[in-house]
Amino acid sequence: MGASHIDQMSSTRSDCRLWVDDPAGFSTARVGRLHHDYHLHPLLQLPELEALAKELAPLKQCRFVRPGITQASAFAHDSVPPDGRSIEEVFRRIEEPGSWIALYDVEVIPRYKALLDHVLANVREIIDREQHGMFQVTGFVFISAPPSVTPFHIDRENNFWLMLHGRKVMNVWDRTDRTVVPLDAVEDFIVAHSLRKVKLKDEWRARSHEFDVRAGDGVYFPSTSPHMTRSDPDWTAPGDRVAISIGVNFYTPVTRRTAQVHQLNRVLRKCGLSPRGPGESEALDALKAPFGKMAGLARSTLARVARPILHRGFSYKPPPGSY
Ligand SMILES: [Fe+2]
Repeated sequence: MGASHIDQMSSTRSDCRLWVDDPAGFSTARVGRLHHDYHLHPLLQLPELEALAKELAPLKQCRFVRPGITQASAFAHDSVPPDGRSIEEVFRRIEEPGSWIALYDVEVIPRYKALLDHVLANVREIIDREQHGMFQVTGFVFISAPPSVTPFHIDRENNFWLMLHGRKVMNVWDRTDRTVVPLDAVEDFIVAHSLRKVKLKDEWRARSHEFDVRAGDGVYFPSTSPHMTRSDPDWTAPGDRVAISIGVNFYTPVTRRTAQVHQLNRVLRKCGLSPRGPGESEALDALKAPFGKMAGLARSTLARVARPILHRGFSYKPPPGSY
């Protein structure tokens, strides 16, 4: 089936929907359950995702993890399969236990950008109530065969996470739970893209929201909410062993301002202070944000200028929404 035919089909496939379980009580600041029928969308079926992977591979946007990782492992991934197999072979053997491929930033392909926009159009109104002006919409598709995991980590963006096929258990923690991820660990991630201090301890599992999800289920979670997934071979059957999910992510002026506060807090912490976290004081945040923006800009400019001199070890490139 050619891409042009799919382009045509997807553009007319306007009947897929996403809805949160409690629209009146929905908050962009809280973890919440949702439902959808995007698992029926033609662009989200396995053969189309293989075609997408072949388009993304040359851009290094197909990502692979090493075999045997656990939820407590560092979330390190590479653009090359650990055993050097081709994308075609990855998909031909995708049902083999432990298979894992992620398709990053699928929005670079126009038909998938249109799909992500379509997903978020369902919830734009309830997002806009608190965080008007979403930008930089990105999509991440995870395809795996149990036993598989996504290790414990945090992201910068707000995330509508949709289960498309199979079954997973998703654990999400409140983004304000400082026992699970301390403030300086969030700062490290936002400012320097380091997850070094974001570590799972087994006793924290009980503090999480746990969602047992299948096709048609999903979870919303805000920027920097710790999360992880797992899937079990007992949940599969011969010929139906694959688990597929998609994260539809976006920034807003609120996530950007929070990042700006983290940028300044990082400077204050380096000066020996213990700054209050974003969201603890509206007035302080309003004061800090412009200085945080300048701190982020200065850091980024310094990195760009210093890179040719230092050649390596100073390759900081801020992702969008960092300040
Ligand atoms: Fe994530």
